[in-house]
Amino acid sequence: MIDEHAIEALLDESRLFPPTPEFAARATLNDPEIYARAEADPTAFWGEVAQELTWSRPWDTTLTWEPPFARWFEGGRLNASVNCLDRHLGTATQNKVAIHWEGEPGDERTLTYRQLWREVCKFANVLKGLGVQKGDRVTVYMPLVPELVITCLACARIGAAHSVVFGGFSADALADRLQDSQSKVVVTADGGHRRGGVVPLKRAVDSALERSPSVEKVVVLERVGHQLAPAHMQAGRDAWWHDLMDGASAECPAEEMDAEDLLFILYTSGSTGKPKGIAHSTAGYLLGCYATTKWVFDLKPEDVYWCTADVGWITGHSYVIYGPLSNGATQVIYEGAPDYPAKDRFWALIEKYGVSIFYTATTAIRAFMKWGEEYPRAHDLTTLRLLGSVGEPINPEAWMWYREIIGGDRCPIVDTWWQTETGHIMISPLPGLVAAKPGSATRPLPGILADVVDANGVSVPPGGGGYLVLTHPWPGMLRTLYGDPERFKETYWSRFPGIYFTGDGAKRDKDGYLWILGRVDDVMNVSGHRLSTMEVESALVDHPAVAEAAVIGKKHDLKGEVPVAFVTVKQGVTADNNLADKLKEHVVKKIGAIARPDSIVFTAELPKTRSGKIMRRLLRDVAESRTLGDTTTLADPAVVASLREKHEANEG
Ligand code: WT7
Repeated sequence: MIDEHAIEALLDESRLFPPTPEFAARATLNDPEIYARAEADPTAFWGEVAQELTWSRPWDTTLTWEPPFARWFEGGRLNASVNCLDRHLGTATQNKVAIHWEGEPGDERTLTYRQLWREVCKFANVLKGLGVQKGDRVTVYMPLVPELVITCLACARIGAAHSVVFGGFSADALADRLQDSQSKVVVTADGGHRRGGVVPLKRAVDSALERSPSVEKVVVLERVGHQLAPAHMQAGRDAWWHDLMDGASAECPAEEMDAEDLLFILYTSGSTGKPKGIAHSTAGYLLGCYATTKWVFDLKPEDVYWCTADVGWITGHSYVIYGPLSNGATQVIYEGAPDYPAKDRFWALIEKYGVSIFYTATTAIRAFMKWGEEYPRAHDLTTLRLLGSVGEPINPEAWMWYREIIGGDRCPIVDTWWQTETGHIMISPLPGLVAAKPGSATRPLPGILADVVDANGVSVPPGGGGYLVLTHPWPGMLRTLYGDPERFKETYWSRFPGIYFTGDGAKRDKDGYLWILGRVDDVMNVSGHRLSTMEVESALVDHPAVAEAAVIGKKHDLKGEVPVAFVTVKQGVTADNNLADKLKEHVVKKIGAIARPDSIVFTAELPKTRSGKIMRRLLRDVAESRTLGDTTTLADPAVVASLREKHEANEG
């Protein structure tokens, strides 16, 4: 019998899109020699690239590797805001546009590098005036406005670590992160514009602060105004951004930081209910962002670059703030939703600003595809010359659509694999050197060593699948989990000692290309955003009606995965649609809208192994209505059959 899937896969694997000779000739990197040179001595290679940053004192040792703790560029001193701003002053870049910003309602702002530098210096002085010192943490909870970028760089300038919490997270999630980071100051806004509505950020801050005693001061940006989001200002604690900036001095010498000093914390989901504070250091992270932006996006001085990510996620940290600004790029930043006021907003922005490099999420590409090609067709997209995708595997069909409809069949596509933990892109084609295959992130970047291994940590031969691991330290790697080095060791370094475990499964084809297969742990990827099943389970059992809950990620055409919850209720509670809605709202309140369960299945019992572990694999089969896997380890096999029936009834 002919296995059509296998044939299809084979065809896909051999479908190559090599760089055109014209693109290769002009590409920033077009000599394949770089791969061999980097592989021969990755540490020395990164040492060479690091010369391109601006240092106030050169480093003594490029890498000290005491697994799992790495120190890069020890002895070196530098400041990240100087590398993003001051180093462009006195050059042609100083009067270049750094940011073309557009708000969702259509308001615009343009900041040159010099103007951005002045704002950052002023706000750095404001933070100092509020008592923020080197080594402190500042939590940032803002819409995607220039002030968000300014705040992060101002923190970097005075040596305080920023902890950005995505504006879509709830007050509870914010409070957890404030407590864990022990932040002294919160920078927020009265609200943000989203899909025609307003997100009342300050109100969430007020509620979070009832349980966050470390916070002394709150700075509030007036973004949407009193009419739409009245902000209650608590005397002595809260102050308006504009009042504080009024008259602030623009003279603020940058703090000289050690290479390994903490630059920021960013919380992400792990396989337990408690979010992990990913800690990134100054020099290595900055270097990784700088180099990968330049290489992967083939950045040229005349480019107009647009990464659509929110700064609430790592993609916004690395490819809105530190990567493009350290390269002196001109970029577009857009506050709002892609379908507001209509489904062509992104294409209208590309046309308006003449965007040449466009980097967006796989989920977004699938949504654009579903909306229809009439929206991009209505706009002139001929300024585009390179496209990127990130967040989850891109199916070959979406890849081809992206290439043809958005890229006019002329733009290379870079499918970039990386993680909050890796800090910067790790696996991606270099557009002038590597032939792309739709659906494959291709190969590790120069200086990055990855492998696919079996359960014993043995490298699998070409054609085989296994766990994706990183076998050599890299500059932007997370240094630890904030305040929890034990969990850092356990999560990433215990499965294969001395080797970083990504949590992803991958396959390597006969040409050595890597195909990412998705998470192999209890982590879901919802619209490119990471969420742990445990986190949603904790939120559910927090509700008084719930006895027990199991959550799995169910495959979804647009979002990649969506949470589906299996819930047993307490004695005497009526499990009905009304309760299901209440539980969904409870999850939104505890975590945020991205965590809202797609469906809730009530059940008298959850399938468990004899040792009491919930069998999520089985639940996933049920949710996706597949043939059931092996059920012999079930405590009560009848449970699954009834679960499955209920699920099918729910879906119907
Ligand atoms: C997880 C990391 C990196 C910024 C966005 C998400 C998945 C990411 C790809 C890609 C296949 C991808 C992985 C990874 N992922 N990019 N190009 N192809 N999968 O950051 O929240 O830290 O999630 O996203 O599963 O482990 P994150």
